[in-house]
Amino acid sequence: IPVDPFDLVLFGATGDLAKRKILPSLYRRFTAGQMPTDARVIGAARSELSQDEFHTLVRDAIEAYVSDTMKDAATIDAFIAQCSYIAIDAKGEGGWEELKTSVRDEVVKAFYFSVAPAIFGPLAEKLRSHGIACENSRLVVEKPFGIDLETAKKLNDDLAASFHETQIYRIDHFLGKETVQNLMAVRFANVLFEPLWNERYIDHVQITVAETVGVGGRGSYYDKSGAMRDMVQNHLMQLLCLTAMEPPAAFDPDRLRDEKLKVIRALDPVAPKNIVRGQYKAGPDPSYLEDAENPDSKTECYIAMKVCISNWRWKHTPFYLRTGKRMSKRMSEIVVQFKETPHSIFDRDEGSTANALTIRLQPDEGMDLSVTIKEPGPGGMRLVNVPLDMSFADALGPDGEEIPDAYERLIMDVIRGNQTLFMRGDEVEAAWAWTDPIIDAWEARGDKPQPYAQGSSGPEEALAMMLRDGRRWRDLETG
Ligand code: BG6
Repeated sequence: IPVDPFDLVLFGATGDLAKRKILPSLYRRFTAGQMPTDARVIGAARSELSQDEFHTLVRDAIEAYVSDTMKDAATIDAFIAQCSYIAIDAKGEGGWEELKTSVRDEVVKAFYFSVAPAIFGPLAEKLRSHGIACENSRLVVEKPFGIDLETAKKLNDDLAASFHETQIYRIDHFLGKETVQNLMAVRFANVLFEPLWNERYIDHVQITVAETVGVGGRGSYYDKSGAMRDMVQNHLMQLLCLTAMEPPAAFDPDRLRDEKLKVIRALDPVAPKNIVRGQYKAGPDPSYLEDAENPDSKTECYIAMKVCISNWRWKHTPFYLRTGKRMSKRMSEIVVQFKETPHSIFDRDEGSTANALTIRLQPDEGMDLSVTIKEPGPGGMRLVNVPLDMSFADALGPDGEEIPDAYERLIMDVIRGNQTLFMRGDEVEAAWAWTDPIIDAWEARGDKPQPYAQGSSGPEEALAMMLRDGRRWRDLETG
């Protein structure tokens, strides 16, 4: 079903994210019939591009980032016909009047800031002072939303001077991933899990976001950020919140975000012994230090940590988070590890029989619940752990319909005016309030990350941290 007609102004239209994600996602929604034929995409950036040059940029982005089955010349031409370009200087006067006459008041107006956070404030101010944004305009902002609490507050204040909170959509693209939303469906649309979803039955939770890519090519950004700011403060924190939050009273943006906020505010400070930071060594690809072009860098591109939540539901159930670059496998998952049965009438010789619910974000999105059953056959009562497997691609039909990219869903949600999968200002600030003291303590101590081999599962110290608690990380290769 098509969404309402819209004008989407994409600031930073010549940038990497626009080419890799935003423009291809809009095209995919166009092919799916969701982008109305009278919707318009207006690219804006500083470069003086002609309309033809911008159309070539859009065409190249589609060629490079959309799968072949979705590409046909007529559809690409039709999409491009809905795209145009205006050269705009965020801090100067050029282009603003042209933009004002190009956007329509009678349709949904969305402004997408895919630009450096330093110009969020000036852009928002220009949109307001030129009378381009109106009451029902929407503003989409990309991460990073600040580098600490102070800068995030400043960004929130700058945006608030021109836009109301109900108009601001702060993107965390992990919230647009299919499985992340399914986590909420599984928790709150089934009676099976909720009664067990607490410290009484859950031993611990593991959240892993492992990547095989390094930081080469974006080293100078990354080295100022590190895994804590780039991944934990936002993506892993959101996964933790959705796993740990209380059931909201309604599936409504503010009810949901209130519950996430309560989780962040209940997080304990993390002691240094419960954090392991790492940097990948050289071989076969360049080392982190080479990729970052900073031989003295103390920035982590791997982090593992034990996080405790001080509330009734989770008091004795730790959450272990880990994320890193150049690891052995690209794999993101949440594992809810249940406790052993209180008493076993069977032999426990065969190892743990505790149930685990695994929520796989990528690759192969889906869930499985491991249950213990009797091994089939005449060999007596031998127990085995088997997965009750649900791959979403299989469940969605034999044609294996492609699961939409997170950006497709999120951009359409902006047009529909649904803020559920976007972060609220106070949530972002609370997340920084929790991360700031951790980062400050590293800086004060001059903490140095541990080296780890490329293609491994991270530093040995992370394994040791788990073993100390009598637990193990899930094997990245075998699960
Ligand atoms: C981005 C981070 O937000 O998320 C990157 O800046 C990271 O460092 C990326 O690689 C991971 O996203 P995805 O969707 O590829 O898992």
